[in-house]
Amino acid sequence: MIARKVPHMIYGGDYNPEQWPEEVWDEDVRLMREAGVNLVSLGIFSWAKLEPRPGEYDFDWLDRIISLLHENGVMVNLATATASPPPWLAKLHLESLPVTENGVVLYPGARQHYCPSSAAYRERAAELVRRIADRYAEHPALAMWHVNNEYGCHVAECYCDASAAHFREWLQARYGDLDTLNEAWGTAFWSQRYGEWDEILPPRAAPTFANPTQQLDFRRFSSDALLGLYEMEKEILREATPDVPITTNFMSFFKPADYWKWAAREDVVSDDSYPDPADPEAHVGAAMSRDLMRSLGGGDPWVLMEQTTVRVNWRERNVPKRPNEMRLWSYGAVARGAEGIMFFQWRQSKAGAEKYHSAMVPHVKPEDSRSWREVKQLGAELGKLDGLLGARGEAETAILLDWESWWALELDSRPSAAVRMLEGVYSFYKPLFEANVPVDFAHPGSDLSRYRLVIAPNLYLVTDEAAENVRRFVAEGGTLLMSFFSGIVDARDHIRLGGYPAPFRELLGLLIEDFVPMAAGARNTLDTQDEGSYECGLWADLIHLEGAEVVASYKDGFYAGTPAVTRNAFGEGAAYYLGTRPEERYAKSLLQRVCEEAGVKPTLEAAPGVDAVRRRTEDASFLFLLNHGEDAVEVGLRGSGRDLLTGEEHDSTLTLGPLEVAILQEKTR
Ligand code: GAL
Repeated sequence: MIARKVPHMIYGGDYNPEQWPEEVWDEDVRLMREAGVNLVSLGIFSWAKLEPRPGEYDFDWLDRIISLLHENGVMVNLATATASPPPWLAKLHLESLPVTENGVVLYPGARQHYCPSSAAYRERAAELVRRIADRYAEHPALAMWHVNNEYGCHVAECYCDASAAHFREWLQARYGDLDTLNEAWGTAFWSQRYGEWDEILPPRAAPTFANPTQQLDFRRFSSDALLGLYEMEKEILREATPDVPITTNFMSFFKPADYWKWAAREDVVSDDSYPDPADPEAHVGAAMSRDLMRSLGGGDPWVLMEQTTVRVNWRERNVPKRPNEMRLWSYGAVARGAEGIMFFQWRQSKAGAEKYHSAMVPHVKPEDSRSWREVKQLGAELGKLDGLLGARGEAETAILLDWESWWALELDSRPSAAVRMLEGVYSFYKPLFEANVPVDFAHPGSDLSRYRLVIAPNLYLVTDEAAENVRRFVAEGGTLLMSFFSGIVDARDHIRLGGYPAPFRELLGLLIEDFVPMAAGARNTLDTQDEGSYECGLWADLIHLEGAEVVASYKDGFYAGTPAVTRNAFGEGAAYYLGTRPEERYAKSLLQRVCEEAGVKPTLEAAPGVDAVRRRTEDASFLFLLNHGEDAVEVGLRGSGRDLLTGEEHDSTLTLGPLEVAILQEKTR
């Protein structure tokens, strides 16, 4: 359960009552009841109203709205309000403003205009949080804490002098002395050797490529600097309310923050997610984010903290969700472990930069709006799903994801700037999604023993421990599928010498002599051992076999006839290697082969466009069926079940209309 005080599926949104006269609040709570709202995230951007002048606090309005919500049965996910400092902070402390790598100061007037290392920001934020925590600690409406908002969304790193000093402290803790740092950063190159700590700077705009290890460490530091702010607030809240769960909202696959580290420090994982309705594959990317959120929390339930009812305001063209699409995507999240569905925001603003962003309560009268009807319908339905609480996913496949490797892979001066982490991840995720194979994400250093199949897309940077962990997984009987440019560097971004990919050569049974990054649009052909022929592009490894068998080889180029895809028996398991980016059709067939070999089964074999996901409790099993397609489809079932949404019993088959969903409580399996 996410929060003891809301022992149901959570339903609600960001609530910004400070934007409205108090008369509107009565209508708000009436409509919240009508929609089945049981939790709102309150006061996220209210610092300037709570502390209108430095040290002068006004909590009366917040007292009134919290009580009103409580009287109406709506619990509160109370924000710490530190995401957007009032303009007076910048006036008093110009140095609290963030600075870009080009030395540009980011001024107030939007939001998130603070340097994560600013002492003034920290002090003022801590004081505000203390006051909020003390004042509302015992309030019966307080169900959860919402720390700050989307850390790093606009300002993920700061290059000012305070950040430089903080960076140096962080480096001292990591390396101890300058010799070790010089060695780690490889400063013998280009005369970069540091003689004193205060010579070290963040990687500010420089004549050409900055030192890659400096860049990598700055990414680590920047994630940690933000995390330090979160921890500061968390400590204050924990002391005041040891039992109230604490979260801060993530942004799906957000590169600047190492969410494995972050999630370990949260009581509940929560995510903000805005798939683009104009993208025909939006639901696939969304599912991938949902699987990440569940995985970050170790399989525990999580909250979809923000999504939009219809459209956003911040794309070039803000295409709306189609009727029923919001409902379908919401269930896509519930299927993958969400036990809270919330929106940005409750009532659509009438002023400010987000007035064209849809909300639960639109500008037009609710009764005239299809989105309000959808909001009410979803609220009513979620109210029937208490039986799902605590049901968990059942993936036997894990995709490895490591933020440090992601950062290092995408630094500049690599063999190909076109190799992007998430594209690699997606190239495996999509075929698995389409085959209804459940997937977790896992850190390469984590316990992999519960999985049958592990996929390692472009695992460029690996520590010795992670490399050993992956080897052990295969040695003990697991199946591995690893793709190109893996195992190339250590945690310092130094090449692991001894022939690529040094830590995995024995495991994969091969040696890579060199890489062939391909020109934009260039293609090669993969000839498979069973006489198949497929396209590939982006990259080719020049592979020499050292025990592995060939699964496919290149047809063209100076390396024609050399292996592109291999398989190596290792210990009790097997390790596949994919030295290129194949077309989707091949990724599909290769994944099918490795799944079969690993004994990984799909949740259900269904028509294209049908997403089938199972969640289980100890004594119940729930099968989610979601039709993302434009046409009605018939789904064959392995047993019978009752649809929790309609109450209907289904036996052996079920017809799903376009964008329709069913949640079957299964009778037999
Ligand atoms: C999120 C943010 C919200 C709102 C929303 C609009 O990034 O947390 O405050 O701005 O986007 O889509």
